Order: sequence, then structure tokens, then C-alpha cells
Amino acid sequence: MTSSLANSISSLNSVAMGDKKADLVLKNCSLLSVYTREIIPKIQIAIINDRIAYVGPDAGHTIGTKTTIIDVKEKYVGPGFADPHLHIDQFVLPSELAKKSLLCGVTSLFSDPIDIVSVSGYKGFQEFLKLGEDLPIRIFQVVPGGLPVDEKFSNSKTLSLSQEKLAIKHPHVLGLGEVFSWTKVTLRDPKTMKSLSAMLEMNCIINGHTAGASEKKLNAYVASGILSCHEPLNFDQVLERLRLGMSIMIREGSIRRDLKEIIPCVLSHGTSLDRLMFCSDGLDPIDIVKYGHIDHCVRESIKLGLNPIDAISMASKNCFDYYNMSKDLGGIAPGKLADILIFDDLKSIKPNKVFVGGKLVVSNGSIVTSIKKKIIPTWIKKTVKLNKLSTNDFDIKSKKKSIIANTIFMQTEIITKLGSAELFTKEGNVLTSLDRDVWKVAAFDRIHGTNKHAIGFLENFGADIGAFASTWSFHENDMIVIGSNDSDMSIAANTLIKNQGGLVVIKSGKIIASLPLQLAGIISTDSFEKVLSNFEQINNSIVDSGCKFSRPHLIPLFLPFLALPSIRILSGGIVDVKRRSYINPIS
Ligand SMILES: [Fe+2]
Repeated sequence: MTSSLANSISSLNSVAMGDKKADLVLKNCSLLSVYTREIIPKIQIAIINDRIAYVGPDAGHTIGTKTTIIDVKEKYVGPGFADPHLHIDQFVLPSELAKKSLLCGVTSLFSDPIDIVSVSGYKGFQEFLKLGEDLPIRIFQVVPGGLPVDEKFSNSKTLSLSQEKLAIKHPHVLGLGEVFSWTKVTLRDPKTMKSLSAMLEMNCIINGHTAGASEKKLNAYVASGILSCHEPLNFDQVLERLRLGMSIMIREGSIRRDLKEIIPCVLSHGTSLDRLMFCSDGLDPIDIVKYGHIDHCVRESIKLGLNPIDAISMASKNCFDYYNMSKDLGGIAPGKLADILIFDDLKSIKPNKVFVGGKLVVSNGSIVTSIKKKIIPTWIKKTVKLNKLSTNDFDIKSKKKSIIANTIFMQTEIITKLGSAELFTKEGNVLTSLDRDVWKVAAFDRIHGTNKHAIGFLENFGADIGAFASTWSFHENDMIVIGSNDSDMSIAANTLIKNQGGLVVIKSGKIIASLPLQLAGIISTDSFEKVLSNFEQINNSIVDSGCKFSRPHLIPLFLPFLALPSIRILSGGIVDVKRRSYINPIS
């Protein structure tokens, strides 16, 4: 339980004066001061309960018979890192992610649980808050700010205005998450405007997402009280937003990596760093192991020429300043919560020790605290509301011998365009064509149990498999099934219905890779290591069989994502995003 500064001042004051003794004193610290941007040698830090009471040359007066003293031996001591925007409702439970993030020195996560809400609404949001509590890492949440993505086509659940207001009363809920459908703001969509006004009235933070917006549209967005963005792809976009008073979270995560493009320009232009942060926007298990978390951003920025203390300030102080939490977090100073990292050097940026609230949680590169397993209610593990499907459920009927199909042509794992292919029929059902690399693709509503579904064609996938299916898809969470034949498609779909969520690859009627995602069909209840292994098998089984893309798991994830061009599939139909209209799979 985190103390409040208001209730701690007497105790902290007493320790600082030596009238009361500290619980813990760190001696011989080379202090990384994010306030003066200097390294101060031979500093002593006194901590009582979960806060810092004294920072200075001699904490001797705070030491009593019960005080633990740690000689840091002139190692570097700095504040815990924060990830100011990420989606932690994916792949692993917050408790499993916490272990990996803490090893990277990340002591605070600012979570935007958009997909858990899209699947399970306010009830799921409340349950997810519980999963992030009482962990040895700080998890702050925002109310998802972009659902539904497009009211005309979206199937996702969302929060009502009154639920948003209720959610904000929770002490760990800070405001509104990325308002990514920025046209809803520039077109002054009534619910969006009411939601923004309510957040501003309650003095809450509103996170932004302004991909592609500029000039008057960007002005209108900022004028609506949205003061951050993690979407700039280059320095020009960073500068345009900074000049309008926004804060920028430089994104370096599994969806995009922008740091190498932006940091050198920030340095060469001498841009003020005060409103710059790093964020991941979400990390998959392979990337956490391969790159790390915010420690990677600090390390890479230093390699690109950033002063280490500047990089550490961007990873800590600037995040808490942005969230109006600077009295509690962001630096090593009296009154602050004792989230402290100890580094052997400023090159590797791997913390040897990590304290959260004065408690040692990482030592010598290992977690040294216990993390309790949470009880997950059964209802949230039953979200694939579909009856068993048959091969015929994947039919696309035509009385003709051959047809011209409108295909979803995959340009990358994420970007699509409209394609066209001649396909033949058998017994009134249009067949796929492996020769032409034309597949079937289906989207099923698995959230509401409506049996609503759409079937179309997908082109340029390339793998030698029977079917690939997923219950996790941004931010609709329809069940997506891609297949070279209807039989394997039905087996893939039925496997996910039986398992109540996950990703699965089928070939010749057999499961060749499976990643169960039992919680809401988007999060695994298994250990990080098991999820990592299953996730690697999913991608490897598809890539090794000749897929044209290196990260095939992104294909079902983005196929229904209406915020990107050009052709998408949802349970309601195939959508031309720009024209905002449905298209038929047969032209
Ligand atoms: Fe995001």
C-alpha cells in the first residue's frame, strides 16, 4: 500500500532532522540528479517506510540500531524508469510483465487497457484494475479513449460517459487514454467532446494520438485539451507538436521503433528535452527479451549521443511531470517515493539493484520479491461466444464456374490494399487458390454471441499452412481465421472456441502451433516463459513455411483495425476504410 505524502510529512520531517530513525540508508551513492542534471558523489539517502526523508552528504543522524545500511560503493543511483504509455492487456498477465519490466528498471507502467475494455466493457476494466494492484511495480491506468474506433462498423464494447466518470474515481485511474480517432475530435463527435470536457473538469490527463494530423486539425486537437502524442515518426512532427505545447512520447516498441530517427535530430537542433519521454506502446515477449524495455531507450539514446542524465530524466522525471505526479515520483529527493535504481555503469543501463517504495525487488539481475498469483474469475475466461463451426460455415457461394474476387491484398503485415483475382467454384462454393496465393479470411463476432460474421479473400500471405486463427484483434477482438482450405479453417476456429481464446496454426487437420490466451481471448494466464515459447512457435511455424512477412501474428491483429488503410474485415463485413463503405467479396 503506497503512503500519501500528506500523511507522511511528520515522519519524513522527523527522520530528516534526526528525531526519528530511518529504515534504510544508502551510503556512497553517485547520485544522478535529474533536477540539476549532474552526478553528485558521496551522497547518502535515508528512507523511512516507502519514501525518501533525506538526501545529502551525511545521513548519520538518521541511523538507529534498526536501520539497514547498504554501502553502494560509489555506484550510480537514479530514479526508477516509467513507461508513460503502453498496452499491458496483451500476451501476459500484469504480474508476469512486472517481473520483466522490473529487471529493466521500469518501476511504473502507465497502462491503456483498450482491448480488455473492447472485449468485456466496464466489468472487464474493473477486473483488470485488480490484476494490476498489489504488485511490486506501480501500475497506473487510463480509461480507453478511442472506442469504438468507428461507430458505423465497430463491434467493440466501450464505457459510457457515466462509467468513465465512475472509473476516474479509482485512485489508480489518471485520465483518458489515447484519443486515436482524431477525426472524432476535429469533427466534434458529441460523445468524444463530452468525454474530453468531463476529463478536463475533473483535472485529468488526456493522452493523444495524432498520426497524420497537422496544422489546423492538430490545433483543434490540442485546443481540445489533449496534450501528448506518441505517434511522431520524424523530427518535423515532433517539433510541430512541441511548438503547440504538446508533450512527446518517443515510441520504441513492438509496433514501431522511432527513437533512431528522432533522437539525433533532437540533439542537432538543441531542442528542449523537458517535454520528451520514451514509451513502448506495448511490447511482445520476444522483444522484451531481445531489447529490454525503457532501459533500451535510455541505452540507445546514450549511444546516439544523449547525455546519460538527460536520457534518464526523459525516462523518469519527464513522465511524472507530465502526469502531474512530480511531488511523489521522478527523482531522488526528500518526500519522494523511494523508487531507486543502482547501476554499475552508465553504458549498459542494467540496474544491479531496484527498489520500489524502499523495498528491494531486484538484486544482481534477479527478482528478489514474491509476486502473489491473482484469482481470475471464470466469466472473463469465457469470452469466445461461438458455437462449433462446420466447414460449410466458410463457404462463399456462387452459381458461376469462376468469379472475380475482391481481395484484401497484404502489402505489409499491417497495411492492405484492394486486390483482384479470378477464382473457381466447386459445388457452388468459391475455392481458394494456392497458385495465386489467394486465401479465405473470416471474421466472427465472438464477444456478443450474435453469430455475425463475414468471409472474404486475402492475397499475398504465402505460407504453406492450412489455417491461422486468432481471437485477439485490435480493437474489435473479432475472431479472425485465415485459411487455404475450409476444413482447416473450421478446425482452427473450433480449437479457439474450445480453448476460449488464443492463436493457433493448423496444417492438414493438425495443430502445429498454439498460444492459448485464456483471459478475454487476449491475455495468457501462463508464465512469461511459456508464452514466449508458444509465441515463437506461432510465428516460426508460419514464417518457416514460406510466409512473405516476418511477423505474421500482426496480420490477424490488424485486419479489423479501422484506423489504418485500406481494406479491413470485421464481423460486420469487408470495409473500404477511406470510402467508409462495405464491399462485396465477389465483384
Ligand atoms: Fe497505443
